[in-house]
Amino acid sequence: MYKLTVIPGDGIGPEVMEAALHILDASEIDFDYETANAGNECFKRTGSTIPQETISTSKKSDATLFGAVTTVPGQKSGIITLRKELDLYVNLRPVKSYEGTPYLFKGLDFVIVRENTEGLYSGVEEYTEDGADALRVVTRMASERICRFAFEYARKNMRNKVTAVHKANVLKKTDGIFRDIFYDVARGYNDIKSEDFYVDATAMYLITRPHSFDVMVTTNLFGDILSDEGAGLVGGLGLIPSANIGDNNGLFEPVHGSAPDIAGKEIANPSAMILSTCMMLDYLGETEEAQKLEKALTDVLREGKVVTPDLGGSASTMEMADRVKKIFEIL
Ligand code: NAI
Ligand code: MG
Repeated sequence: MYKLTVIPGDGIGPEVMEAALHILDASEIDFDYETANAGNECFKRTGSTIPQETISTSKKSDATLFGAVTTVPGQKSGIITLRKELDLYVNLRPVKSYEGTPYLFKGLDFVIVRENTEGLYSGVEEYTEDGADALRVVTRMASERICRFAFEYARKNMRNKVTAVHKANVLKKTDGIFRDIFYDVARGYNDIKSEDFYVDATAMYLITRPHSFDVMVTTNLFGDILSDEGAGLVGGLGLIPSANIGDNNGLFEPVHGSAPDIAGKEIANPSAMILSTCMMLDYLGETEEAQKLEKALTDVLREGKVVTPDLGGSASTMEMADRVKKIFEIL
């Protein structure tokens, strides 16, 4: 029995969460859910976008499923606070093209491993006389653990190559350390190829030869940008999942936000939330169950009959989820 924290959030967050849990009910694995609050509706009720209770519930559980929240300018971001509190130093974003979806390239399948805690997102910025400065923090500890995670991930998932992405020709010290540590770590993984590219070249290679990537590891800002480029390659926010992983916790969430423009219409594509659930099953060591769920979803996407309007269909969120569930049950 796994203990899960479920944070539906705002807008379409609760809609795609309901869809994912509906499917998970058909799993042979037992889950005990605890629902917790976060986001803007929560702020209106409690005065906090992420109450302490939510943080401690999440800390105590085996994994957290997170829908999406609405962030209002000036408010403290609930999800960023939660990632920090749980020390989720890895942001994992798969780039995979599924038949029946509006991808740009057929057969893409690689993963971006983004350092989630430092880099240019250190949060240290200050105004100067001329403008403002931001501090780019690269520590040996964080570089080592993210590079090690990338190689371990590659090994566990039968992937052959890890590519480090940096800009060490200009950022000689910060990215110099990142690149050197990457190759130090690589020496412990002779079964996996290693290579490194500059971030600008990588942005181009993602368009000119995206199939050459397998696992990519990079610092915070570059990872943020490249993973959105990756999302563009496989088409559509409704399809892109993510995992935030630390040594003791994992949080799984679609990349999309609360989509106020379609909230309440029951037309949100549940795929990103379902694929995030697959990533959670994988993280829990339930690889077979994760593969079954992914297969059920890909069957529905390939069929293209019971899919939401963003995929050219006319099904509601729950109709699509129910179709996935029916296939999941018989696999
Ligand atoms: P968004 O991702 O919510 O929506 C962008 C566009 O994609 C919209 O047209 C939306 O209808 C469409 N879309 C998103 N998810 C979809 C799905 N599952 N199915 C079909 N269409 C989908 O981004 P936006 O509009 O910039 O932000 C809305 C709110 O969400 C803001 O308050 C923002 O701060 C917040 N946000 C929260 C995130 C999170 O909870 N991690 C991430 C991104 C934004
Ligand atoms: Mg982003």
